[in-house]
Amino acid sequence: MKPTVAIVGCGIVGTAIGKLLARAGYHIGGVATKSLETAGRAAKVIGAERFSDCPWGVSRAQVVFIATPDDAIESTCKAIAEHEGFEKNAVVIHCSGALSSDVLSWARQCGATVATLHPLQSFASVDQAEALVPGSFCAVEGDEAALVVVRRLVNDVGGILMEISAEGKTLYHAAAVVASNYLVTLIDLALELEGAAGMPRDVSFRALFPLIKGTLGNIDAMGIPEALTGPIARGDVDTVAAHLKAIEKYAPVLLTIYKTLGLYTVDLGRAKGTLGKEAADKLVGLLGTEEANTEKPEPYDFSLMKEIE
Ligand SMILES: NC(=O)c1ccc[n+]([C@@H]2O[C@H](COP(=O)([O-])OP(=O)(O)OC[C@H]3O[C@@H](n4cnc5c(N)ncnc54)[C@H](OP(=O)(O)O)[C@@H]3O)[C@@H](O)[C@H]2O)c1
Repeated sequence: MKPTVAIVGCGIVGTAIGKLLARAGYHIGGVATKSLETAGRAAKVIGAERFSDCPWGVSRAQVVFIATPDDAIESTCKAIAEHEGFEKNAVVIHCSGALSSDVLSWARQCGATVATLHPLQSFASVDQAEALVPGSFCAVEGDEAALVVVRRLVNDVGGILMEISAEGKTLYHAAAVVASNYLVTLIDLALELEGAAGMPRDVSFRALFPLIKGTLGNIDAMGIPEALTGPIARGDVDTVAAHLKAIEKYAPVLLTIYKTLGLYTVDLGRAKGTLGKEAADKLVGLLGTEEANTEKPEPYDFSLMKEIE
């Protein structure tokens, strides 16, 4: 028989996990979140038996998901433990990518076992999360007894299991930030360069987007470094030198980041095998950060902030 589940924190992930588990045949005993109204709405869409604005009002279940924002996970777990809200032998799970299961140690002290289950996706809504969790990689770590249950949960919601160590979680999360958030940053950098060339931002975005999608398709089809194209992969030193000159003149604040990314790309070009030693050495000479602006920024003037307030 499938274990009973309680969900604390009925936002995007808590509600979507609740719906997916209910659909997979789990009994959702109760849901709790900060506002009673939200808890009631979530209980209705999930099909939960009870709802509350008090976590320990619903947490006596075999599996407890703490799906609050990251900075409330430990305090919520502690509050439930202090109110004797965990069943002995319960499995307590949080969904943060950055935090390990150690933040749930308050539950361990009550005889529960703990784990984390992080769907490696970016969700903007419950509907999107519900659609994307099946087929997404889910990173899990924690106590072995808890993992036995968590592996089954992942399988039952259609996720792809990926085991990780507690120590590795922070770097794992940094990788996710680079792949997802910094991709946004990178595209903004390209738009800024187009802007410096006089292109309207909306036109640049529409023009660059097919290139971005094409590159993602190449990465998917060929992998890295094979998908790398462009002047660095070709060893076209003069083109890179011209870029640096133009950026220094028209968008100098972007020079350091262009050089840093360029240097990393030289290593990829070498690994691909299309960038010879002579050109690689010249590129490293051009892109070396010693030429970049190393001046320390002025310390922030906090008195200014007070004035604004
Ligand atoms: N969204 C994503 O893309 C994503 C992806 C993977 C993993 N995660 C992880 O999933 C977890 C939840 O994220 P989310 O995106 O679902 O956040 P969210 O949409 O902001 O939902 C968090 C929910 O927790 C409630 N809450 C806050 N403090 C609480 C407390 N002390 N007790 C009970 N409930 C409380 C909030 O209530 P109020 O609305 O009333 O404040 C809200 O309903 C986080 O650990 C996050 O890192 C998120």
